[in-house]
Amino acid sequence: MTLNEELYKIEQDAQKTLEEASTAEYLDAFKVEYLSRHGILSTFLRGIKDASIEEKRTVGSRANTLRIELEQKFESKITTLNKGLNRKIDVTVPGKRPAQGHLHPLTIVRREIEDIFLSMGFEIADTPEVEEAKFNFDLVNIPQDHPARDLMDTFWLNDGRLLRTHTSAGQGRVMKNRKPPLRILIPGRVFRNEATDASHESTFHQFEGMMVDKDISLADLKGVIEVVLKKILKREDAKLRFRPSFFPFVEPGIETHVSCLFCKSGCATCKYSGWIEILPAGMIHPNVLRNVGIDPTKYRGFAFGGSIDRLAMLRFGISDIRLLWSGDPSFLKQF
Ligand code: PHE
Repeated sequence: MTLNEELYKIEQDAQKTLEEASTAEYLDAFKVEYLSRHGILSTFLRGIKDASIEEKRTVGSRANTLRIELEQKFESKITTLNKGLNRKIDVTVPGKRPAQGHLHPLTIVRREIEDIFLSMGFEIADTPEVEEAKFNFDLVNIPQDHPARDLMDTFWLNDGRLLRTHTSAGQGRVMKNRKPPLRILIPGRVFRNEATDASHESTFHQFEGMMVDKDISLADLKGVIEVVLKKILKREDAKLRFRPSFFPFVEPGIETHVSCLFCKSGCATCKYSGWIEILPAGMIHPNVLRNVGIDPTKYRGFAFGGSIDRLAMLRFGISDIRLLWSGDPSFLKQF
């Protein structure tokens, strides 16, 4: 190979290597390999000292031009690379997570309640929030002059209708014109015209459940309540107890108490009793069945009406019911 050919080969290799060098490390390596004192070009130049004067001049000057050209290219590649690096991308900085939405605690609990009842063969019904007094009161055995009407502070509308004070208003709507057996769940918003505090809100959510058939007894009611509460509260070991209570639409009426989820010996949530009152219920009053055209001598049923808000509070340890409808992101982010 003549010196000229040798130089041509060096040039080809150097250009190719430089072209392909895409990082600072590769560029540095290129510099050491071709342009340093002991690099390929210098070694080549040193090696032509024995050549003829003529060859020395032409090949020597071509080699020097090549060196300058490679150095310039090298510099410009380094500058471009640094410009990119000047954007200061620190790949080790933790990324910013985009805020992600999620279900509201009330929605979580409502959907779980619905799933449990669906799995037990209940159907889900949606009945009006703006309701007639007939359904909210009369059909569920609260006649006009009944003192129980005063117990429920009602938002009345100008046209004589009202915002339902309880999902029991849906009982008449779903039982009317239907024949037992019936298994129905009515989840929904209810409204009370009363002062709010940590455990009272003017708008909250209930789930009304009812089962009507030939041989329904209090034992069925207890069984259903037990399954549902243990599942929703995620506490299989929860203890339940039942106490007599009064509601015009049930006879007998019961209160359900669940052993406190937060303490063993007494805390503010259970008012130092170890028990939390949770789910009012009872056997559907014969008058209610009669009102919707079901013969109470043939059929019996149970009904219960729980607060979804209260279950969500117990489940998630929320101390103030008003937080649920506050829309406060610092509260909602915690779920
Ligand atoms: N409707 C009652 C309330 O809102 C709850 C209830 C429903 C009680 C069904 C017994 C049976 O307070």
